[in-house]
Amino acid sequence: MNVLDDMDRIKEIDREDILGIEENFHSQLLEAREIIQKSNLEKLKQKEFKGIAFLGMGGSGFAGDIIKALIKDDINIPVEIVKGYKLPAFVKSDWLVVPVSYSGDTEETISAVNQALERGCEVLIICSGGKLEDIGKKNNKAVIKIPPGLQPRGAIGYVFLPTYLALDKLDIITVNSGDIEEALSLIKQKAKLYSRETGSDRNPAKKLALKISGRLPIIYGTEGLLAAVGYRLKCEFNENSKTPCWCNEFPELNHNETVGWERLKDITKKFILLIFREKDESARVKKRIEVTSNLIKENIGEIVEIQVEGKSKLAKALSTMYLGDMASVYLALLAGVDPTPVEKIKILKEELEKLN
Ligand code: PA5
Repeated sequence: MNVLDDMDRIKEIDREDILGIEENFHSQLLEAREIIQKSNLEKLKQKEFKGIAFLGMGGSGFAGDIIKALIKDDINIPVEIVKGYKLPAFVKSDWLVVPVSYSGDTEETISAVNQALERGCEVLIICSGGKLEDIGKKNNKAVIKIPPGLQPRGAIGYVFLPTYLALDKLDIITVNSGDIEEALSLIKQKAKLYSRETGSDRNPAKKLALKISGRLPIIYGTEGLLAAVGYRLKCEFNENSKTPCWCNEFPELNHNETVGWERLKDITKKFILLIFREKDESARVKKRIEVTSNLIKENIGEIVEIQVEGKSKLAKALSTMYLGDMASVYLALLAGVDPTPVEKIKILKEELEKLN
């Protein structure tokens, strides 16, 4: 029997049950919605901001990526993503700065938030505790506290949804409640389909993992929403499946990477390219994807098109992300690798801590 359909073997490999956490994504989203409903953001209300800067790294940084992609076509103030130590000089006191860190202890995020406080910016903190919570309390800033005890990447519902809905609560954007309902219902439906109980013959997440197994995945999405999802999946394949993975986006990749497939065929034949496709993609994007696939297909092991589901941007982003998240855990299980530990990230953080 395939390991993905062997419940005992799954438990043996996935010692901290990250698969169970992913299977419960729908409940996590419901809980996350309640968290923001109960949060008090009075300290920030009625303020007019000249821009928003999201701070955050890795699993927490994804919240800013996806929110920017969701709102950038409708919002009339700049939205900046900061993934590093330094807050850009143009972020002034009339900006809203949103540090997102699941642990609350990520040094880059803390460094940037301290600069925001020095400049007198308004700050909305999202964390499960740690130093960020203390910074929030000490400076009398709004803090949305999310439940602790998970891997940051397994807490994406907690880091993303309250952050996104906080902007609605602050009247910075308007979130369509129908979009939230659509996304929740799609995730609920997919949770059953992608769960361990659904066999490999009918389970799209297991099928995707089986296709990728033994090969190096590359992910292509279209600029904006699907590029952000592509980056999330790259990180999931890195952290859960412990495999190298790259992502890139249309149309930018057509100006460089498309040529890069010309040599080293003996290596790239071991790669598998996943391309996100949308029913309503523009004629130019459709053409780009088709021409690109034809130009490079001889040099790649396989090209797999992933059909994006959902009507709203939110449903499209979360459901595509969910397929990849689940596939990344199944890919780890196929390799007999525990998806949870990220030992190298831990070592790096400990080494940096020694400098303090
Ligand atoms: O998934 C992970 O463990 C990492 O990518 C973390 O998210 C990253 O190191 C930042 O930590 P935190 O999310 O606690 O701010």
